[in-house]
Amino acid sequence: MQGKKSVLDCLNKLLAGELAARDQYFIHARMYAEWGYTKLHDRIAHEMEDETGHASRFIERILMLGGTPKMVPAKITVGKDVADMLQKDLDVELEVRDNLKAAIALCEKEQDYVTRQYLVAQLQDTEEDHAHWLEQQLRLIDAMGLQNYLQSQA
Ligand SMILES: [Fe+2]
Ligand SMILES: [Fe+2]
Repeated sequence: MQGKKSVLDCLNKLLAGELAARDQYFIHARMYAEWGYTKLHDRIAHEMEDETGHASRFIERILMLGGTPKMVPAKITVGKDVADMLQKDLDVELEVRDNLKAAIALCEKEQDYVTRQYLVAQLQDTEEDHAHWLEQQLRLIDAMGLQNYLQSQA
């Protein structure tokens, strides 16, 4: 089945975002491991796998619609310390959320309701899992202080 060009372009933009999120979690997970923050490493390595799954579903959908997946990640931003890394990851998730919402509106306009379903599932992961967890961590740092938070993650 041939998809609309507008939808395919949009899916490729979203794919670039998922590939970037994956790479940013990849480097952050390795930095946490190097610094001995085992709990942060485990959680962020798991997020990296989630983003790989998101990218995989976009690749499958683009191929199904007769398009060519562009395997070029968007720009990543590596944090310099734990709080900065959590904030930069949250920034990525919020940008992905905004792009997903715009894509859902486009799919409705183009009446591509199956692609829309893919997007809603990813929006739910983004809002209720990834972004929510990162917001919780930043709130914990505020509430208990950075040193106590870091101790809890070693
Ligand atoms: Fe994602
Ligand atoms: Fe995410």
